[in-house]
Amino acid sequence: MILGNKRTRESFDQNWMFHLGDLPIMHAVKGGMTGGLTDCEQIAEGEWLKIAYFDEREPSVMNDREWKSIDLPHDWCVEGNYVNDGGKVKHHKSHGYLPVGIGCYRKVFEIPMEDLGKKLSIEFDGVMRNCTVWVNGHLMGTHQSGYTGFCYDITDIARYGDEGKNVIFVKVDARDYEGWWYEGCGIYRHVWLDKTDRLHVGRHGTYVTTPVVGKDEATVNVSTNVHNEHPHDVNCIIKTLIEDGTGQIVASSSENITIQRDSQTDVETVMTLMEPMLWSPEKPYLYEVITEVYDANEKEVMDVYRTPLGVRTIEFTADRGFYLNGEQYLIKGTCNHQDFAGVGVALPDQVTEYKIKLLKSMGCNAYRCAHHAPSPELLDLCDRMGMLVMDENRKLDISPDGIADLKEILYRDRNHPSIILWSMENEEILEGTILGARMLETMSRITRAIDPTRLTIACMNHGWNDGGYSNSVDITGYNYGQREDQYLIDHEQFPDRIMIGSESTSCTTTRGIYENDDVKGYCSSYGDQIPEWSCSHEKSWQDVVNHPHLTGIFVWTGFDYRGEPTPYEWPCIGSHFGIMDYCGFPKDAYYFYKAAWTEEPVVHILPHWNWPDKIGQEIDVWAYSNCETVELFVNGHSLGEKSVDRNSRMEWKVCYAPGELTAIGKIAGKEITRKGVTTTGTPDRIRLELDKNEVKANGTDIAMIKVSLLDYLGKVVPTADNEIMFTIEGPGKILGVGNGDPSSHEPDKENRRRAFNGHCLVIVQANKEPGDIVIRATSVSLQAAVAVIRVE
Ligand code: GAL
Repeated sequence: MILGNKRTRESFDQNWMFHLGDLPIMHAVKGGMTGGLTDCEQIAEGEWLKIAYFDEREPSVMNDREWKSIDLPHDWCVEGNYVNDGGKVKHHKSHGYLPVGIGCYRKVFEIPMEDLGKKLSIEFDGVMRNCTVWVNGHLMGTHQSGYTGFCYDITDIARYGDEGKNVIFVKVDARDYEGWWYEGCGIYRHVWLDKTDRLHVGRHGTYVTTPVVGKDEATVNVSTNVHNEHPHDVNCIIKTLIEDGTGQIVASSSENITIQRDSQTDVETVMTLMEPMLWSPEKPYLYEVITEVYDANEKEVMDVYRTPLGVRTIEFTADRGFYLNGEQYLIKGTCNHQDFAGVGVALPDQVTEYKIKLLKSMGCNAYRCAHHAPSPELLDLCDRMGMLVMDENRKLDISPDGIADLKEILYRDRNHPSIILWSMENEEILEGTILGARMLETMSRITRAIDPTRLTIACMNHGWNDGGYSNSVDITGYNYGQREDQYLIDHEQFPDRIMIGSESTSCTTTRGIYENDDVKGYCSSYGDQIPEWSCSHEKSWQDVVNHPHLTGIFVWTGFDYRGEPTPYEWPCIGSHFGIMDYCGFPKDAYYFYKAAWTEEPVVHILPHWNWPDKIGQEIDVWAYSNCETVELFVNGHSLGEKSVDRNSRMEWKVCYAPGELTAIGKIAGKEITRKGVTTTGTPDRIRLELDKNEVKANGTDIAMIKVSLLDYLGKVVPTADNEIMFTIEGPGKILGVGNGDPSSHEPDKENRRRAFNGHCLVIVQANKEPGDIVIRATSVSLQAAVAVIRVE
């Protein structure tokens, strides 16, 4: 009989204590020795002893300090208050004027005696940034980058069963920064406790590729790195299975090997998959490779390890752009930072899922992880939901740490079918220099050695033709290459160069705003505030349509984010670049893309129709559509029909009178879809709309509640900014709030929020008990609203 798998992965996210500010910790006890519990008895009691060790007097020790209970993911920065430091800390402006600092985390945990003999490790997916980790008083290590994962083997220093409790202590110094955007602070991604037998698949230990993909069959190569950390040789069987999307095993293979004690080996397996289902953003069909490691002597399954498999072919060409599964495929991408309303960078997985869903809803098929590697869950979701990914290394860096970060990303991520490109860097100063080219070449070579199945790219904003820099990568990225037609001129001169619009647009608009306002820090949705390096949404997409060698674009950005309030500064604190605001509420540009990028019938008009001060004045009315024609009616009177260019807009001048604008999208003269905007009354009541009515009772699932302010006829008042108070009852909590106003200084972690141009957002997170969560939204002189979320 074959006995069960020994690998487990436990979430290590729950029951942490957090202390804001520094605490003194000694790195070593007594002249360089690391200490166990006995050592610490012998030295004078200091604060370090109490927090880095488990101490039986813990309750009183912990009460001495300002510690609070938290669960991960956690970003303490988003809980702070906005500060204008008068320009002293340059970083603040990019960081959204939220102070950073130092924070300490501590968690007490138990390991049962039955785990003795297994290998135990703690895996951090990402800590922002520069953190030091102690387990049971032993210094485990430090990790600088906030964007790469790391792991510590705690097998020897763990206490098992009656040996006592364990404590992990993490000090995070987020004063330094890696980027010029909001980066957050703390243990903002998941932490895991992994347990395996000492015979196991190594960390990031499989590499699955499909070197030949045909209609009838695909070849699947699986390389498996197996570790034997037992003090004796082991005869084992490595079974490799491929499971299809319905759970059927469709291919299998098995190898007998001997692994000597304390060593590792790579097992290479070649398999055939018959009539493979292909993966694409439109049909993200996934297989799974299951690796089973059997101890041939013991007749036990020692390890089961799962790897996603998507079968697809990718090819980039210099003249016709990108091919997916043999067909030309335009990349309709967005660049995105991590943060979101209410949570900062500490995103529950369901928030990440929500963001991808929104991007897909406007036809976006590619996601650039600007400017660093994403969380593992984002990649899992892109595999599952169908989204191509440009995975990005933080910076041009050939230092040991820089290379280690790059390798960590490559080994962690190379099995994701969603990833099509490895980006080495973004807008580095050394672009176009000989020195920079040498560094880039080294990084590209390392990348190609670890994953030859994808191409490397540098996302450049200068130096395309200098110093051999562009030749050091496979694809030349053009950030804002429309300037002086750089990407058209370079194509003439270097016809063999593969190009892509790695970053484009950067058009600044504020949701629901139609007039620039320097005082409030708002940009008009007509998009006339275009920084000198950027261009309109229409222009950057039209360039791709007209010049297929450009392959596609990654629009800066899908969502607004904290920091970079271009073209403004304090008191404006958030970016305006997003196609959606930082709550995911669409701006008008969203409909431009939806019309251009999807086949779903779209007609959209702007602005809103509440202009009491403009009666009798001319107003620009724009429409986006993908129908053949659009006819505009003003209070029932037709202003005529215009033919549609789905990659552009239609414009009318309309003399304003309160009432109704209606745009009718037609194909072959027949109405296909319509959109109206109406002059509304003043706010009268609140409406709550849930993205789902039911959430899981797992302590992490969330529901998004869109709050709208309606007039007495039930129309959203597009200028309403009433403050809404929220109360919650039942098994859940309010995780955060937001309204998309890039100048709002209201805290995201309170149970209240002003609406911004008619809307705000509440994120509710379930507890672990089932029941009904009841959310009430009230506001002075408005009719309240109630929503119920079932937790199961
Ligand atoms: C780019 C840069 C982005 C962002 C953007 C704003 O140059 O890569 O990180 O700063 O400009 O337009």
